[in-house]
Amino acid sequence: MMNAKVHELLNQQINKELYSAYLYLDFSNYFKARGLDGFANWYMIQAQEERDHAMLFYTYLQNENQTVTLEAIAKPDKVFTCDMDVLKAGLEHEQYVTSLINDIYSAAYDVKDFRTMQFLDWFVKEQGEEETNANDLISKMELFGSDPKSLYMLNQELAARIYSAPSLVL
Ligand code: FEO
Repeated sequence: MMNAKVHELLNQQINKELYSAYLYLDFSNYFKARGLDGFANWYMIQAQEERDHAMLFYTYLQNENQTVTLEAIAKPDKVFTCDMDVLKAGLEHEQYVTSLINDIYSAAYDVKDFRTMQFLDWFVKEQGEEETNANDLISKMELFGSDPKSLYMLNQELAARIYSAPSLVL
């Protein structure tokens, strides 16, 4: 029997991950309108990964015979005045998601729910990678963003990102 708080947090995380997908889709849309297709591609793949994350929480709860309740997904409402704002919003969002994963982990730890802790281990690692990626993108933008030729090259680099399914299979 899963603890009620752990169940609630896991269920909420489905919504948070779907919101993340929606947010990154919005970022992708921003860059598409800017004519920076590589950046748009990078965030489109990010959105796909977030949907995968949502599905992992969804499947985990179902596998554990727990109810899944889908709630409304919030509207991404940030207005950006420059490209760097988007990148920084991405890092901020990942730091927030890391705090959510940590909260679920902490709730599972409190009730000795070792199975949920093991499930969340993958996300703990993934969040480390997501924050690193967001930071790297900001660093590259700081170095190259102000020079049009370098920005073009960076855009080309980001265009090469390809989707791969999550390494965690449930
Ligand atoms: Fe699903 Fe980017 O955290």
